[in-house]
Amino acid sequence: MPNSELAEMVDTSDEWIRARTGIGERRIAAPEETTCSLAVNAARAALDKAHVAPEDLDLVIVATCTPDYANMPATASLVQHALGAPRAAAVDLNAVCSGFIYALATGSQFINTGAYRNVLVIGAEVFTRILDWRDRSTCVLFGDGAGAVLLQPTDTPGGLLSFVLGSDGAGACSLYVPAGGSRQPASADTVAERGHYVKMQGRDVFRFATRVLPDSVLRALEAAQLTTDDMDVLIPHQANTRIIDHAVRRLKVDGTSVFSNVERYGNTSAASIPVALCEAVDEGLVQAGSTVVMSGFGAGLSWGTVVWKWHG
Ligand SMILES: CC(C)(COP(=O)(O)OP(=O)(O)OC[C@H]1O[C@@H](n2cnc3c(N)ncnc32)[C@H](O)[C@@H]1OP(=O)(O)O)[C@@H](O)C(=O)NCCC(=O)NCCS
Repeated sequence: MPNSELAEMVDTSDEWIRARTGIGERRIAAPEETTCSLAVNAARAALDKAHVAPEDLDLVIVATCTPDYANMPATASLVQHALGAPRAAAVDLNAVCSGFIYALATGSQFINTGAYRNVLVIGAEVFTRILDWRDRSTCVLFGDGAGAVLLQPTDTPGGLLSFVLGSDGAGACSLYVPAGGSRQPASADTVAERGHYVKMQGRDVFRFATRVLPDSVLRALEAAQLTTDDMDVLIPHQANTRIIDHAVRRLKVDGTSVFSNVERYGNTSAASIPVALCEAVDEGLVQAGSTVVMSGFGAGLSWGTVVWKWHG
């Protein structure tokens, strides 16, 4: 969906959206598609690339804030069944736009302890289903998508070098969906009040994001005993070009490639980093031996950064 189509729905323009966010278009899932179906497509592509059969999976983690069912079951269970992975445990993880980073750090622990050998980590969202298409301050920002990675043990040193995860629940209402949970269960009133859609204090989130993104990148690099000079590729959460530019200025990175595809997808929440990672790999930006820093931030408020030595 290009910006021009949004300009027919709400009082906005291509110029405003591009200038404030860097977004030019976003993908909208077809009516019959769900978070599960997008996740399964991404998972199959990752398994094919890794030459691993679904039967060999030990664990499926789906990072999402737009699960197929609001409360139960977990979307990961649907994905596990659809893939045909009978041995795999399955669990959803919701840290919203930081979800993929949390899931990557979590999945890596099972690999590092030797408990599991094949862990599938998926970030998937149909975020456009929780957007209020009458609210121009939010509906222009988000899109749908999914990305997946397969984690395995290896003798080559590298992989996850460090991680930083964080949360500040004081900012919970800066970006949230008020109704539909146990605090405000669904009712005719909550529907009438449009309480099942995303509400956001954009400026608060902007201030938070521009602070936390560079901070957590620096802390994660320090934890890996590295500096920004060692960072080959930075893959930030794809929320907004201005947030990314701000962070890059604060980090003062010169030799680092900063990956961005927000122009084409908008903010796909937990899917943004794995989609960006896959494109960065396909484009040859991330290569064997690259030190890749991936950093997410979002509702919670939450944040997370991993430093990853890519094996290829
Ligand atoms: C949302 C965001 C782009 C808004 O930009 P901003 O410069 O902060 O704009 P403001 O919210 O101050 O609004 C400025 C004006 O633009 C208007 N506006 C908001 N959305 C608009 C839109 N889509 N089109 C045109 N005008 C819009 C506002 O109504 C306001 O008008 P007013 O001055 O007449 O009241 C910006 O706050 C932002 O990027 N925040 C972070 C959002 C984010 O990334 N969230 C997800 C994190 S995971």
